[in-house]
Amino acid sequence: MSYARIQGTGHHLPKRVLTNADLEKMVDTSDQWIRERTGISTRYLVEDGETTCDLAEQASRKAMQAAGVGADDIDLVIVATTTPDRVFPSTACLLQKRLGIHGGPAFDIQAVCTGFVYALGVADKFFRAGSSRRALVVGAETLSKIIDWTDRTTCVLFGDGAGAVVLEASDTPGLLSTHLHADGDFEHLLTTRGGVSEGLPDGADTAYVHMKGNEVFKMAVKTLGRIVDETLEANGLEKSQIDWLVPHQANYRIIEATARKLGLPMERVVVTVAEHGNTSAASVPMALDVAIRDGRIQRGDTLLLEAFGGGFTWGSALVRY
Ligand code: ACO
Repeated sequence: MSYARIQGTGHHLPKRVLTNADLEKMVDTSDQWIRERTGISTRYLVEDGETTCDLAEQASRKAMQAAGVGADDIDLVIVATTTPDRVFPSTACLLQKRLGIHGGPAFDIQAVCTGFVYALGVADKFFRAGSSRRALVVGAETLSKIIDWTDRTTCVLFGDGAGAVVLEASDTPGLLSTHLHADGDFEHLLTTRGGVSEGLPDGADTAYVHMKGNEVFKMAVKTLGRIVDETLEANGLEKSQIDWLVPHQANYRIIEATARKLGLPMERVVVTVAEHGNTSAASVPMALDVAIRDGRIQRGDTLLLEAFGGGFTWGSALVRY
């Protein structure tokens, strides 16, 4: 059987920075509240006219360069996003065109903040089935386009960005296992108000994000604790064998709780939430790339990637880098 191994990574942030001080001028909030409750100090936002595919393209080019591969080498493109450029074609098809990739399957995955972990899980199956030899897997979002910038309960949390990995076929597993879950019973706790088929509520011009933050917080902590156990058990691993936790970056306190569950000191956890905010499907691949490029994550390290998001969806990927 053939397995997937991470060959190269990249990430891209838009230029515009929005600080907590900027938000203090927009809604009734404070730098102190945002930092204490979430750990976030800044987030990056796209300009008008800048799209998810623009960010995905830049991240992908960096990942392909790091992997030393060209467009002709890629036989599968998966983009995890909640904020596609258009209803259709998929952002993956738009990205394929930008990069000059042709012929192989290209499709989007929508699992909100868990999207990238879902995308890795799906890509893994392609490799194990012998259907892909080299894949581009991307998490890219422009969440700022579906944020109500007058709603302090959501607008302080989110940012835009993209992260990408190139996976190559290998005789030894790089993706050791992936674990994907969902429970739609909780859809009402983290959702958009309306959409394409439902239509928009009276007076709304966009389907804005709505979240019962406190309830989501409690579920996230509990569920991520469980998926840590599930992942370790499935691989017969002890907690001490995990070198790095690369978590979804929603909230510093949630990340800390998962690290505690693993018995990992925070020095072994990749944390980008302070600078990036919550970039939904982009957060895990961006954090991964940051820690690979700054030399913290080394070849041979064992990484636990995990995420929790709207749906609810949640998942993990155990990776030998
Ligand atoms: N500034 C100041 N006060 C605020 C703000 C703000 N930006 N937002 C809310 N408050 C107030 C509330 O109104 C409330 O006031 P009250 O006590 O007078 O009613 C108080 O602060 C406490 O509100 P809580 O919602 O209980 O605050 P909490 O400590 O839970 O923090 C937060 C809120 C940061 C949203 C947290 O609940 C959280 O991180 N939740 C999980 C988010 C997450 O993981 N989402 C999943 C991924 S996202 C995705 O899939 C798209």
